[in-house]
Amino acid sequence: MTQTDTHYSLYIHIPWCVKKCPYCDFNSHEKRDDYNEEAYVDALIRDLKTEAPNVKGRTLKSIFIGGGTPSLFSAKSLGKILSQVDQQLNKTRDIEITLEANPGTFEAEKFSAFRQTGINRLSIGIQSFNDPHLKTLGRIHDSDQAHRAIKMAQDAGFERINLDLMFGLPEQTVEQAVQDVEHALSYQTGHLSQYQLTLEKNTLFYAHPPILPIDEQIWDMQTECQKQIANQLSQYEVSAYAAKQQQSQHNVNYWQFGDYIGIGAGAHGKLTNNNGQISRYWKKKQPREYMNTAGTLKSIGGENIVIESELPFEFMMNALRLKSGFTLQQFTQRTRLHPSTIEPTLTTLIDKQLLEISDSIYSCTDQGWNFLNNTLEHFLPTA
Ligand SMILES: C[S@@+](CC[C@H](N)C(=O)[O-])C[C@H]1O[C@@H](n2cnc3c(N)ncnc32)[C@H](O)[C@@H]1O
Ligand code: SF4
Repeated sequence: MTQTDTHYSLYIHIPWCVKKCPYCDFNSHEKRDDYNEEAYVDALIRDLKTEAPNVKGRTLKSIFIGGGTPSLFSAKSLGKILSQVDQQLNKTRDIEITLEANPGTFEAEKFSAFRQTGINRLSIGIQSFNDPHLKTLGRIHDSDQAHRAIKMAQDAGFERINLDLMFGLPEQTVEQAVQDVEHALSYQTGHLSQYQLTLEKNTLFYAHPPILPIDEQIWDMQTECQKQIANQLSQYEVSAYAAKQQQSQHNVNYWQFGDYIGIGAGAHGKLTNNNGQISRYWKKKQPREYMNTAGTLKSIGGENIVIESELPFEFMMNALRLKSGFTLQQFTQRTRLHPSTIEPTLTTLIDKQLLEISDSIYSCTDQGWNFLNNTLEHFLPTA
């Protein structure tokens, strides 16, 4: 294994929220009878201990505590998990530790205490600074709380903060989408993620779809927002923009097809064994079932070995999201496949002007990026 291959990431899932948002298909559950912070932390620690042997001799380079709403938990609980990570795993000295936080006052008041636990990056789910839009999205915070949460995060000493925004919201105009971006940029947090609202299966919005802006308007929103963002941040992934040194190391590891372990209800992991075989696995989804089984084989919800013919697509699905693209060396390093497996497809895509090559780096053209699914289709295994 090379040095980059020995590095891996850790995802920790906290599955509860105060209220389920009508557009959300993440493994998040309203905080009700099965909510038990202490029992869940103990379950995570048992889970961590069973994962540790799987990454023996390797070095942890990032942790992402996501959800759900992990900022519902106390700093003490998160600190307890992180100190177990210290005991169980080898870490890089400059490890990135991100906490996903909601902008409610209850959460924001804990930001300083979170900072003391070693968490050094916050990802705040702002979504919009517009009150009627926040209401339509079923969010429990308002725009004042959104503004206050960002200031509180900065006052708490966080130098790395991501703000999540969504666009293409019901009744949103292009000007309103741009205004949201301008508010976000005014804080100069160094990282912004902007997602187009999608209607996902098993959500309230899917069952009762709101009227969304038409495609042309969404296109205008995207291009106008991108113009504004480009004044301050560089786009490095389909939905992510960052200042220098502010890219999310955790997400970059996913997009570079790196390895990671996942602990918590429904958490996913991807590991490469010494023979180069890649497996994906996930934990049981329901919080109660997870808490009852964590630390035993019964907590595994499922496992897939990625077969060789699927590897090019799996790799590209991640790598082509990055503006920086990939080299053939990286492809071989991550998949153990010979470059000749994909060279004919790369040539076809260059001919179609969906990919370009410069200094041995392959990346999407603007057209290839805008129609990413079409670009990726070329890497699907042939039947
Ligand atoms: C894991 S989610 C939730 C994080 C956090 N609990 C929150 O809601 O603020 C991360 C981000 O995905 C985005 N997101 C979630 N559902 C979406 C959807 N249906 N369409 C577009 N973006 C979505 C939101 O911007 C959200 O902040
Ligand atoms: S707060 Fe976040 S994770 Fe929870 S339901 Fe809303 S979007 Fe989903």
